[in-house]
Amino acid sequence: MEEAVHHIANRKLFLHRGAYFLEGTVTPEYIDSLEDFQVRDSDVFVITYPKSGTVWTQHILSLIYHEEHRNNTGHIPTVDRVPWLEYNWTNVDYEQRPSPRLFSSHLPHYLAPKRMKNKKAKVIYVTRNPKDNMVSSYHFTHMMKKLYEIQDNIPDIGAFMEGYLTGIEVFPCLWIDHVSGWYAHKEEFNILFLSYEEMIKDLRGVIQKICNFLDKQLDDQSMERVVGRAAFRTMKADPLANYQSVGGKELHFFMRKGTIGDWKNIMTVAQNERFDRVLQEKLKDLPIKFIWDIN
Ligand code: A3P
Repeated sequence: MEEAVHHIANRKLFLHRGAYFLEGTVTPEYIDSLEDFQVRDSDVFVITYPKSGTVWTQHILSLIYHEEHRNNTGHIPTVDRVPWLEYNWTNVDYEQRPSPRLFSSHLPHYLAPKRMKNKKAKVIYVTRNPKDNMVSSYHFTHMMKKLYEIQDNIPDIGAFMEGYLTGIEVFPCLWIDHVSGWYAHKEEFNILFLSYEEMIKDLRGVIQKICNFLDKQLDDQSMERVVGRAAFRTMKADPLANYQSVGGKELHFFMRKGTIGDWKNIMTVAQNERFDRVLQEKLKDLPIKFIWDIN
């Protein structure tokens, strides 16, 4: 068997307190310091396992909160509108940032700031069915390796799946641990759970749900704009929303297909059966009804 994912693009992974992080972008000390991060009551965090619709939800949040982004006059990329808690790529001074601050994170629940548990700050946690999540991650890994011209250690889908299922050097940890951890500890947070699939099927309904959670109502015209700007095609063509600046080179690798059920196009019957054997029992314990197919 080929080896599992050892790095994200040109970044090696390092293990700290049960989760992998991108070397050179964050230190173990900084991760530990997040425990005492000064969370404000008005803070909002988008938390996901990677490839679950993070960028999409970041974008939606920024559109709900900021008229200039709805009108496309803000000229600020999503990554700066909703910066990463654990990866301060752009050296944003979080202390100086006006409220309400919007953050993104891939942290497992047990590394979240203590003050997030005051149940005032808001957390939006987005899940995606794990087959599409794995396939999206597989393509992302390939695109990143291509972008950085990394020729070695490119796993095929079978090898990639084994890494995904066993969690060996998978960023940031096993999918099931991330999702079940946040669900199991939901009472400790002021948290709204969403799924990528419900966003695909009823974007407007989900945006309204987010607005209700944030206690932020939009008039009809503003809602129309948020829905329009958050549509896949619009986002893909929007250099501020498609994350093309991340990585320093222009490539729309965060906006790939944007659908449900793409796993069927790449996983073999045997791989699908193996995936089910490993995960199905564990999925039954989650309070989520997964949608596996667009129909
Ligand atoms: P695919 O690779 O399956 O296309 P993340 O932001 O967590 O990295 O997730 C990326 C996934 O979300 C990609 O999935 C991407 O295409 C999808 N995505 C991003 N914006 C979207 C949108 N507006 N509508 C539908 N899917 C979107």
